[in-house]
Amino acid sequence: MNRPLNLGLIALAGLTFACGGGETTTETVAEVVTEAAPKEMTLEEKYQNDPVYIKGLEKLKASDCTSCHMVERKIVGPSYAEVAAKYESTEENVAMLAAKVIAGGVGVWGEVPMPPHAGLSEEDAKDMIRYVLLLKK
Ligand code: HEC
Repeated sequence: MNRPLNLGLIALAGLTFACGGGETTTETVAEVVTEAAPKEMTLEEKYQNDPVYIKGLEKLKASDCTSCHMVERKIVGPSYAEVAAKYESTEENVAMLAAKVIAGGVGVWGEVPMPPHAGLSEEDAKDMIRYVLLLKK
């Protein structure tokens, strides 16, 4: 993740001092004030080094999930952050949601259905769900 450097203020001042004897000193002061990075981290930044995050994301990327789900924004399906806020990360919820991803489902978040992912193994689906449920604010 790269965040553009926040340059709060760039002060560039050329100061000229003329002293009595006709001697001239030219001083250039370049001051770059870097503002403190904003405190609000994205969820990706917050969890990027967590092994559950790394493993789950790798599997998610190999599937079609990202075409309907984003981390912090609802597109076709709910954002992962919304799902993480709704369910505690218990083994029971992981199994229930993994089964739903494999079988498909509708009605919890609205009228748009999630299609089944019949080719997905239970283990892969669970790793994906552990990643999703990790993404709590
Ligand atoms: C074609 C779009 C689409 C794709 C692809 C998709 N989803 Fe979904 N997903 C949805 C929709 C729509 C819902 C809401 C379903 C509902 O309201 O019950 C949903 C719901 C969910 C939920 C919450 C289920 C609940 O009962 O609260 C999880 C978790 C989830 N998806 C994970 C995944 C994962 C992991 C993948 C990839 C393997 C994936 N989705 C692929 C559209 C999609």
